[in-house]
Amino acid sequence: MKFVYFNENYFMGESRKKFLMQLGSGLLVAGLPAQMINAATEVDEKDFIGEGVADDEKFWKRIAKKYYDVSGDYINLENGYYGIQPKPVLNAFLKNVAIANSQAARFARKDFPGIAAAARKELAGFLGVSEEEIIFTRNATEALNIAIQGYPFKQGNEVLLNQLDYFSMIETFRMLEKRGRIKVNAFDMPLLPASEDEIVELYRKLATEKTRVILLTHVSNINGLIVPVAKIAAMAKQKGIDVITDSAHALGQVKFSLPELGSDFVGLNLHKWIGNPVGAGVLYIKKHRIKEMSAMFGDVTASEDSINKLAHFGTTPFAVIMTVPDSIAFHRRMGVEKISDRLHYLKSIWVNDLKQHPNIEVVTPGDKNLSCAIASFRLKNKTSAQVADYLFKEHKIFTVSRTLGKDGCVRVTPSIYNSPEDVRKFATAAKLYAGL
Ligand SMILES: Cc1ncc(COP(=O)(O)O)c(C=O)c1O
Repeated sequence: MKFVYFNENYFMGESRKKFLMQLGSGLLVAGLPAQMINAATEVDEKDFIGEGVADDEKFWKRIAKKYYDVSGDYINLENGYYGIQPKPVLNAFLKNVAIANSQAARFARKDFPGIAAAARKELAGFLGVSEEEIIFTRNATEALNIAIQGYPFKQGNEVLLNQLDYFSMIETFRMLEKRGRIKVNAFDMPLLPASEDEIVELYRKLATEKTRVILLTHVSNINGLIVPVAKIAAMAKQKGIDVITDSAHALGQVKFSLPELGSDFVGLNLHKWIGNPVGAGVLYIKKHRIKEMSAMFGDVTASEDSINKLAHFGTTPFAVIMTVPDSIAFHRRMGVEKISDRLHYLKSIWVNDLKQHPNIEVVTPGDKNLSCAIASFRLKNKTSAQVADYLFKEHKIFTVSRTLGKDGCVRVTPSIYNSPEDVRKFATAAKLYAGL
């Protein structure tokens, strides 16, 4: 790890220094406005220890109050777009912005390469893979486009995907189809599968000898359905089919081991559930598959079996990458199990309530292995856009309507700083609008 020190005594007490070091980046900065420094939040180990079961409100209130600075203007139940950075991460980010800005080109040329390499190493450790198997991208869309467009398709190859996959990835495959490279086979995924095995069997049934790739959206952005990636990838492997996995919504929200997914191509991001500033995606490609891939951005300097051949992007959002160790450190402190359990708990409060009512259709299975934070619903007598508008205009509750068949749905995504009261208020408002 390369550290950058700038006249640290200017603003840093011993404890804050320790805190930043603990958070991972070790970046110590001077010359920042005093109010920014004063706003820095000390991470107290005691806040995270020995508590935090899903319904321990004392624990979650403390975490929300101390570590999240959330607008009080409305109740945000649309945390599926991107995550709010915890305060310690935000402070690290602001400092990193100031470093990159004040130190400018000298910093970018001399210091940043080492810092980025250290961040990549930290991330590889967090993901349980080799740093030679990952690159930073600006987001998951970019990561997955590199994987999809660089994949060695042959004429006549087919790809299997469904309506719950993320639209950008579907469009990328459709673009390749339009160019005559592949054929896309789209099927309708059941919205409420009863079990993981039902999903695996569906893929087994639909995969043919022409299928080359299955697109798997690990956690659907539409209804939050979690698909059993490892089981499907194992089945696909037996048939000689590759799986390209979109884990944009999985990382940090649900517990999984990247190497154990058995998927050789995975796109992820850090700005949804890891709490990093927006602008950090990750592409993972299993080492022995890299040489087959062609690059989207020209780079003939890296060797064919180096993943760096896929990482020629131009000028980078420096501070975003510099903050990665900080966001990982905070996320590790919380622990993905605790986060997942809480998110599932918050989701279950409203799902279990609304699914009882005749005018409301919940379109997400409630089981913990099939959904986590995200779930969606629709009202029988209203469009999804009307419902989302009503919730915001009349109750200051922000959700989002998504395309799903002809009726669409409203996606509801609490985060760990939300309270049971937030989701209960939402459920009450939805029932009111449904006329119950
Ligand atoms: C399932 C899924 N995949 C991919 C993406 C794209 O992520 P990014 O915004 O990092 O490109 C999203 C974003 O909402 C998503 O929900």
